[in-house]
Amino acid sequence: MNTLSDAEFGRFQRFIYDAAGITLSPAKKALVCGRLSKRLAANRLSSYAEYHDLLSSGHAPEEVQTAVDLLTTNETYFFREPKHFELLRSVARAAAAARSPSYRVWSAASSSGEECYSMAMVLADCLPGTNWEVVGTDISRRVLQRARAGHYPMERARNIPQPYLKRFCLRGMGEQEGTLLVERSLRQRVNFAQVNLNTELPQLGTFDVIFLRNVMIYFNAETKRQVVARVLSLLKPGGHFCIGHSESLNDISDAVVQLAPSIYRKP
Ligand SMILES: C[S@@+](CC[C@H](N)C(=O)[O-])C[C@H]1O[C@@H](n2cnc3c(N)ncnc32)[C@H](O)[C@@H]1O
Repeated sequence: MNTLSDAEFGRFQRFIYDAAGITLSPAKKALVCGRLSKRLAANRLSSYAEYHDLLSSGHAPEEVQTAVDLLTTNETYFFREPKHFELLRSVARAAAAARSPSYRVWSAASSSGEECYSMAMVLADCLPGTNWEVVGTDISRRVLQRARAGHYPMERARNIPQPYLKRFCLRGMGEQEGTLLVERSLRQRVNFAQVNLNTELPQLGTFDVIFLRNVMIYFNAETKRQVVARVLSLLKPGGHFCIGHSESLNDISDAVVQLAPSIYRKP
């Protein structure tokens, strides 16, 4: 069993900070050790120092992506933090009443897609006849593959409202027993892309609603400020912005006004 010295851990802290803006506290040393240990074996390396050398060599971009995938925390579930979906329902209904011809929402750290498909179910329900779109982005390639497939273990369906489960999800049969597949018509409205929020953003267009939830907790104050400024530059005036319930915009941005805890609007 390889051990990870404090100095080596420091190098991995620097690596993930440079790659993703993620600040790993010293308490995460065991996690880093555990998550990367298989990569030493896969690359036939005998120490974490050698693995770090490989990552920083500039010759192993695939391995850098794998390490980023392993060092990000991707926990998510359908209809997490339900107040945000109530908000989405009410603003989507208002857009329908105003006959908005198009409507775009962005899940800016989508993980494996449950957040995006939850948004899509609400929009399909509230915006019939409108040209709506959900964009999901994340830095982790591994979670984006799962997101694009839209195929989940059935136990993850727990929080999907029954009528949505019936209308938008297919129950797996035979070999797929115990799984659910998000309906193709819904999947077609959700587009995923790999985006690092900690670098200049690609052209994504502008959005009526943006969710930036449960990712800022991994960033330090300066990274939060930069990420939030970048993300909010794509929010339309009058658009809504949701962050995780354990996150805050205090001292981070005054580009939006708070409507309720974790819910903001751009003037
Ligand atoms: C805990 S999940 C949150 C998922 C979802 N938003 C939710 O609230 O359930 C955090 C996600 O942020 C992503 N992430 C971390 N750093 C990132 C960065 N710099 N750019 C884009 N995504 C990032 C991770 O890959 C992970 O999938």
